[in-house]
Amino acid sequence: MGSSILKIVILAIVLSSSSSYATSQTIQEKFYQCIIVNSELAIPFSTAFSTPENASFTTILQSTAQNLRCLTPSIPKPQLIFTPLIENHVQAAVTCSKELDIHLRIRSGGHDYEGLSYMSEDEQPFVVLDLSKLRQVSVDIPDNTAWAQAGASVGELYYRIAQKSKTHGFPAGLCPSLGIGGHLTGGAYGPMMRKYGLGADNVIDARIVDSSGRILDRESMGEDLFWAIRGGGGGSFGIILAWKVRLVPVPTIVTVFTVSKTLEENGTEIIKKWQEVADKLDEDLFIRVIMQVVEGSEKGSKTVQTSYNALFLGGTDRLLGVMETGFPELGLTKKDCVEMSWIESVLYIAGFPSKTPPEVLLQGKSLFKNYFKAKSDFVRKPVPEEGLNGLFERLMEEDSPLMIWNPYGGMMSNISESETPFPHRKGVIYKIQYLTLWNDDKQESEAKHVDWIRRLYSYMRAYVSKFPREAYVNYRDLDLGMNRNGSTFIEASLWGSKYFKDNFSRLVRVKTKVDPDNFFRHEQSIPILPLMSEK
Ligand SMILES: Cc1cc2nc3c(=O)[nH]c(=O)nc-3n(C[C@H](O)[C@H](O)[C@H](O)COP(=O)(O)OP(=O)(O)OC[C@H]3O[C@@H](n4cnc5c(N)ncnc54)[C@H](O)[C@@H]3O)c2cc1C
Ligand SMILES: *[C@@H]1O[C@H](CO)[C@@H](O)[C@H](O)[C@H]1NC(C)=O
Ligand SMILES: *[C@@H]1O[C@H](CO)[C@@H](O)[C@H](O)[C@H]1NC(C)=O
Ligand SMILES: *[C@@H]1O[C@H](CO)[C@@H](O)[C@H](O)[C@H]1NC(C)=O
Ligand SMILES: *[C@@H]1O[C@H](CO)[C@@H](O)[C@H](O)[C@H]1NC(C)=O
Ligand SMILES: *[C@@H]1O[C@H](CO)[C@@H](O)[C@H](O)[C@H]1NC(C)=O
Repeated sequence: MGSSILKIVILAIVLSSSSSYATSQTIQEKFYQCIIVNSELAIPFSTAFSTPENASFTTILQSTAQNLRCLTPSIPKPQLIFTPLIENHVQAAVTCSKELDIHLRIRSGGHDYEGLSYMSEDEQPFVVLDLSKLRQVSVDIPDNTAWAQAGASVGELYYRIAQKSKTHGFPAGLCPSLGIGGHLTGGAYGPMMRKYGLGADNVIDARIVDSSGRILDRESMGEDLFWAIRGGGGGSFGIILAWKVRLVPVPTIVTVFTVSKTLEENGTEIIKKWQEVADKLDEDLFIRVIMQVVEGSEKGSKTVQTSYNALFLGGTDRLLGVMETGFPELGLTKKDCVEMSWIESVLYIAGFPSKTPPEVLLQGKSLFKNYFKAKSDFVRKPVPEEGLNGLFERLMEEDSPLMIWNPYGGMMSNISESETPFPHRKGVIYKIQYLTLWNDDKQESEAKHVDWIRRLYSYMRAYVSKFPREAYVNYRDLDLGMNRNGSTFIEASLWGSKYFKDNFSRLVRVKTKVDPDNFFRHEQSIPILPLMSEK
């Protein structure tokens, strides 16, 4: 109390003594001053600020940004990147961006598909709050839990768990550079989802900064808000400082394999069979299918390669039995299978070369960065052969297409659609992710590839979930709709129901209650109820 009164006094002095000077201050200077006034600890932190004047600005902006499409020269850049060193800086950032009316974007791992954590097309000026320096992870094996600060990557969390135990793990994403902060806000699936559900299903507490700048935990935020942050998407409800997660048991030995079949090797027959069994196989087994276009056996020809990339929570012998009964068509043999520890399987599934030391997970670096556009679908009925053929033809027309199909069932069907905002549960056989990648910043390239993926998406409508056509919020897709100035609540519910089905209305109610001024907002943030927003 005393210190906040003191701060108000200091603020009053700063404002009154420099009011004429203040008007000539740049927005960056004002923000800097305001953070000083609102910070508790007098630690030196000038390096926490980077403006376009700093030589390091571009490096910092690009550091974790995953989609190069969102960094091209024509895309508006932030006026300032603020990298909090302590939790209280995050509170100060909320207070100051409100006070100075500077729009705020929140970045943990920078993997947002539409770059919403580091770009803002419509609202300027804006500041990027980069949480990359808040990345402490503490694992408590006896308690079977861990706290991870938002800026930690999932790879760091996995590494810290494995350092302490060979029989504990965590069921989140496959890509180790994902920021735990943003990742868990949208669900977070990975190769253990069929056994343990999503990362968000295994969150048991959280510390957040709300729109008033207060730090809340599960108890003080209440169950409505705690429900909303576990799947309702990032950047709508508050700033996650840290997640407390429940660890899950993993065997000391797991088995992985990757078996590839082109269309010339009965690829179509096998994928038809996979669609029938993928969600019904033993829940220790996760077989995703990665599809790419490769050279065909005849010179100059193309074919689609389907790669069955799997994690089994057990040894090879039991796996071979599961495959023999459930999916013999793939023809898995003992020599396709590799036994290893769970942490080694994390590296394998992520695509690191074999024998890469697990310490690489601490670097939080991603394996690839591209210009890309992606979309997602959920499939509730197998796609018939004619549908598959049309899909493969379209893939072969594109330069660098990629599809990833990942299986549901198991634990995913046992969790109710209302448990978290993530509603894609029982009845989903698999999810499709469509991607197109390119590697130059020419507008024509972008236009061409984005047009291709939009046409593919429109072709697939007949074969995927309907009313709504479901989509994964962590594969953010602005084609589905955007909050534009003047856009209506009804418009928002069109994309909202794709991501959240009927849970969207509960998200809107929570949002209206906890952030009535819509401070936390972006192109696809949860909107507030129209009547209550009228001032
Ligand atoms: C290469 C790659 C691989 C992927 N693999 C998987 C996968 O295996 N499984 C899966 O489920 N998803 C996967 N994703 C999608 C991923 O889960 C989402 O992009 C996720 O939002 C990334 O979180 P982030 O912190 O890295 O991203 P950011 O870009 O930092 O944030 C994403 C969104 O959350 C908001 N946000 C960020 N930090 C916070 C915070 N602390 N508090 C509140 N809001 C915040 C941002 O403003 C933004 O809207 C992948 C993405 C990429 C690019
Ligand atoms: C940016 O420049 C300012 C002014 O020179 C300096 O104080 C600050 O430390 C720089 N920031 C970084 C991240 O280097
Ligand atoms: C394709 O499947 C048929 C039977 O369905 C089999 O006879 C044939 O050998 C298979 N071809 C390849 C290349 O595996
Ligand atoms: C899901 O529920 C079914 C039926 O109750 C049960 O047999 C199965 O073990 C459950 N799966 C998981 C992963 O808990
Ligand atoms: C949004 O629309 C209102 C009225 O329609 C207008 O007054 C306001 O300036 C607009 N804001 C922006 C950022 O365009
Ligand atoms: C969550 O969404 C599901 C699927 O649309 C719906 O059945 C359920 O009623 C929703 N739950 C809440 C609490 O809104």
